[in-house]
Amino acid sequence: MQRLEIKGGRKISGIIEISGSKNATLPILASTILTNKKVLITNVPIVRDVETMVELLGAIGSNINLDKKRKKISIHNKKKLRNFASYRLLKTMRAGVLVLGPLLAKYGTAKVSLPGGCAIGSRPINIHLDALKKMGANIKIKDGYVIASVKKGLKGCIFKFPRISVGATENILIAACFAKGKTELKNCALEPEIQDLIIFLKKIGCKIKWTGKRALEIIGVDTLKSTTHKVIFDRIEAGTYIIASALTNGRLKIKNVNLKIMSAEINLLRKMGVKIINKKNYIIVSSKKKLKSVNVETKPYPGFPTDLQAQIMVLMTKSYGISKVKENIFENRFMHVSELRRMGANIEIKGNKAKVFGKRKLNGAELMATDLRASVSLVLAGLVASNKTILNRIYHLDRGYEKIEKKLTDCGARIKRLK
Ligand code: UD1
Repeated sequence: MQRLEIKGGRKISGIIEISGSKNATLPILASTILTNKKVLITNVPIVRDVETMVELLGAIGSNINLDKKRKKISIHNKKKLRNFASYRLLKTMRAGVLVLGPLLAKYGTAKVSLPGGCAIGSRPINIHLDALKKMGANIKIKDGYVIASVKKGLKGCIFKFPRISVGATENILIAACFAKGKTELKNCALEPEIQDLIIFLKKIGCKIKWTGKRALEIIGVDTLKSTTHKVIFDRIEAGTYIIASALTNGRLKIKNVNLKIMSAEINLLRKMGVKIINKKNYIIVSSKKKLKSVNVETKPYPGFPTDLQAQIMVLMTKSYGISKVKENIFENRFMHVSELRRMGANIEIKGNKAKVFGKRKLNGAELMATDLRASVSLVLAGLVASNKTILNRIYHLDRGYEKIEKKLTDCGARIKRLK
């Protein structure tokens, strides 16, 4: 099993280019099930989850081709797809469930594995299923699979999401594009990746408009157009590298970012004392030696993202004073804390709240990665730890960070992949 060896103590300075967003690429790829026309997706990140989605679509018969060198995916589905997504592919990537809505909308039946829980919580899909039922689908759960069917196609409906869910908003939004009549979705997630999905869907001919802050109206269509789409940048990757630079007192130029969609993160980092200068298509990050403590709670967009919670916590271990973190999105997202404590961090946890005591010296240790964002937070901790850090189970990291060792070593870090 591959591991990372990180020798701490180096500044992260230089230039990093941010990749396309994984969380935008995945729903866009799932939505291509709807169309028989040629589609080209560019700026895709070459990460394991994207490869898994390409494999999943290929397995159901999609004529899909990933060009890793040019970071492009072309799709031209000419024949009927199979409506079956297996457990093998869904067990490693929950976003595989995003094929349920489009398969059902296009073919009237779908058998998709239940994705199951994961380290950060039980992660049910009840909201996805309730919305599809409201659109007329008949849904059964059998042997770990969702078996869905609808006699004369999905019907438009009014559905209010009982809680804000990124995945459910995406799945139902895509399905509604092929439902009969009008669908009104309320209490939708507003993440920039959803906005990017909407831009893509509109380009292929879907009729979607925002009618209120969290309200979408979709009018079903039955034919679609060909298009090319460049995926939005990965704001979580950008936030991670800003933190890497701030942690190590480096000076970093980060290309291919747009701070407009990162206000919550940027405001918080500035409050801590991180200097972020905004240029046209890049930013410059530098920071004072003495960072301040802050309090933060994770929220759906435009709030502070749960996907940056573990990384900001590492920065808090180095700032002056006590910081507080409240995790509101996932029930079990403090998995990184026990590993950070083994490195010398002083963090108290009570339920979904953490208290981080700052100005701690971190020491290298042998660590276990538990999920994608926890893994990257341990890489960050390794960058400022004394001695050597060994990070095991880095397949989690490879799911979502493109060339992380190369990007960091090019900026001064000492990281090696041990096979
Ligand atoms: C997406 C992101 C993930 C991010 C998360 C929250 C992708 C591929 N993944 O995950 O990186 O951390 O948004 O920003 O884009 N819930 C239910 N029932 C449901 C659906 C969700 O109870 O049917 C709950 C979840 O357990 C969780 C909360 O709603 O507590 C939010 O989850 P959701 O927004 O759906 O996350 P994902 O789409 O899985």
